[in-house]
Amino acid sequence: MVSRVADSVLRPFDTIVAYADAPVWIVTARSEERRAGCLVGFAAQVSIEPRRFLVGLSTANHTFTIAEGARHLAVHLLDADGFALAQLFGAETGVELDKFEHCDWHTGPHGLPILGGAAGWFTGEVVQRVEFGDHIGFVLAPTAAHAPAAPVRSLRYDKVADLDPGQPAD
Ligand SMILES: Cc1cc2nc3c(=O)[nH]c(=O)nc-3n(C[C@H](O)[C@H](O)[C@H](O)COP(=O)(O)O)c2cc1C
Repeated sequence: MVSRVADSVLRPFDTIVAYADAPVWIVTARSEERRAGCLVGFAAQVSIEPRRFLVGLSTANHTFTIAEGARHLAVHLLDADGFALAQLFGAETGVELDKFEHCDWHTGPHGLPILGGAAGWFTGEVVQRVEFGDHIGFVLAPTAAHAPAAPVRSLRYDKVADLDPGQPAD
């Protein structure tokens, strides 16, 4: 059993993670004709050889219900001008709104929705699912990728920290 962490640790922990100002991504999923996607801060490459990328999805999110049984997910890089897309996917929930009616997208590898407003994207096969707590980790092995033609400045946590998530985390 994991012991409860004291507030005197949680507060500075949260501050350190916030100050790290990590990039935010949009993860999309498809199950038959249903599409979903949400803004994700819990995401990072976790192995070089083989390439592996970890995405943490909240079990409270509509996107999780679609991703739960999916074999593949798409991960989108946003540039510093990507706030509106981040707002659509981070402050709205697919339970109430079809986000794909409000943005440019096309069908990509594995039938996944690919966002036209993203600076770059890759698709990945889900090779492992790990229960972390209120988020489930999806470990992805890249299957296709489209990089920006030139380096971009990514949209980072500090620019979206004030958004109210469309679904409160568990
Ligand atoms: C800054 C920020 C970071 C977020 N990071 C994550 C995350 O890492 N994983 C996740 O599942 N949800 C994350 N969310 C929450 C979802 O993006 C949000 O609840 C979204 O509206 C869920 O949409 P859905 O119900 O259509 O899946 C984040 C939201 C914000 C504003």
